Formats: sequence, structure tokens, C-alpha cells
Amino acid sequence: MRKTLVMGNWKLNGSKAMALDLVTGLSNQLAGVSGCDVAIAPPVVYLDYVQKLLANSNIILGAQNVDTHLSGAYTGDISAEMLKEVGATHVIIGHSERRTYHKESDKFIAEKFAVLKENNLVPVLCIGETEAENEAGQTEAVCAKQINAVIDLLGVQAFNNAVIAYEPIWAIGTGKSATPAQAQAVHKFIRDHIAKLDANVAKQVVIQYGGSVNDKNAAELFAQPDIDGALVGGASLKADAFAAIVKAAAHAKK
Ligand code: 13P
Repeated sequence: MRKTLVMGNWKLNGSKAMALDLVTGLSNQLAGVSGCDVAIAPPVVYLDYVQKLLANSNIILGAQNVDTHLSGAYTGDISAEMLKEVGATHVIIGHSERRTYHKESDKFIAEKFAVLKENNLVPVLCIGETEAENEAGQTEAVCAKQINAVIDLLGVQAFNNAVIAYEPIWAIGTGKSATPAQAQAVHKFIRDHIAKLDANVAKQVVIQYGGSVNDKNAAELFAQPDIDGALVGGASLKADAFAAIVKAAAHAKK
């Protein structure tokens, strides 16, 4: 059975002092909490530092991005091997902020998925529609297209031991989360879409919801049968709020 994953995406936020505070707070508040996986993805310059802070913790270290190359003349980029060397195991790719601000294409993101799999890292593939696409009834088509880019390059088996984060763009950072029913409908569509190719892959793939998840709405979202945790932005920067979200996931009854 798949295990719920709550992952904090710090985006471009934080400092060493903040990381120390947050990790200390989380370690204290989450001691003894089991039943779901927890990950944090700080900015890349703090990975090594945070890895050391997590030495005696069950919290998983994640990263926010990766390049498709392993080495060479690619100024400013970071490789899968480098992330692995500093202890990251889960890597966010295809976040809408990278699709928008860095013009990352579905094909490029699928290549990132490939390099992560080759290096035994867990891809956390973000997908999701804009508000206009949502209103035009294109949510399923957009999600299918973003997933198909990976399937076309690597086959559906690539989703074994991988994570999909459904993050409707209109819900990110807006305080306007999808309703549990809305999110569940899309999650079910995603799982069914994969199941058409391989039922076993579909059954085990972790599908997180992301977009204005907080300590108030988390429990109801996690109660949905196809919502396997969350990718959390703003609320992951505060130990109290993030710990409450993790506890909601740990206690979720399916
Ligand atoms: P918020 O939780 O701040 O809406 O961000 C969601 C997100 O983009 C996580 O990757």
C-alpha cells in the first residue's frame, strides 16, 4: 500500500537561522508521530547544512530542482549526483513556477524525470492547470498531457516509486485551495489515467495535492481516498503549521 507523503517546498525562502529553528521545531513536534512520510525541500545552498541537522531524524531531505546533465559547461545548474551526494532523495520537478518563469517544457521536465530515475532519486512531478484552463474545462486534458510526456519518454513503469503532485496553479499561494471533492476528482482521474496502462503502477503511485494547504484544510483533503498527502508551500515555513499538517496526514482514515 502507498504511504502518505507530506513535503514542504520552501521555495526561495529561508536562511541558516531559519532552517535551524524550523528543523528543531519539527523534530520536537513530530517525535513519535508515524504513519506518513515527511520531507522538506530547502533551497539548494542549504541542503548540506539541513542534511546535518536531520542526522537523527526521520525527515526526508528533498530538493526543488535538478538539471538534465550530470556535469559539464552548464553554469548555475545542479546535477542529480550532486543532490544525491548531499543526501537528498526526493526532487521536485515541473513546478508551475519553473514552467512559468523558466519556460520549462513538458519534454524537458520528462528528461529531468529520467535523470532522477537513473540516479535512484524519487521524482516529485508537479502538474496542474491554470485558472483559465480550469474554467474552460481543460483540467483533465492538461494533467494527462503533462503525465504523458513522462510516459512517452520512459514508459508507465517510470511511475513506480515516484510521486505526482497535483497543484492547480490557481490554488498556489492564493489561500484558495481546491475543495476536497474537486481535488479528489482530479486525483482519481490521474490514477485512472495511469491504471489504463498499468493497474499496479497506478495503485502504488503517491499523488499529493498542493495549493494553499494549511493546518485547517489538511485533514479533510487527506480523508479523500486518492489524496496521498500534500506538497506544502507557505505553511511549510512554520513548524507549528507544518507539524499540524503532518499529524493530520498521520491520523487520516481511509
Ligand atoms: P502554497 O502552499 O504556498 O500554496 O504553495 C504550494 C506549492 O506550490 C508547493 O509546491
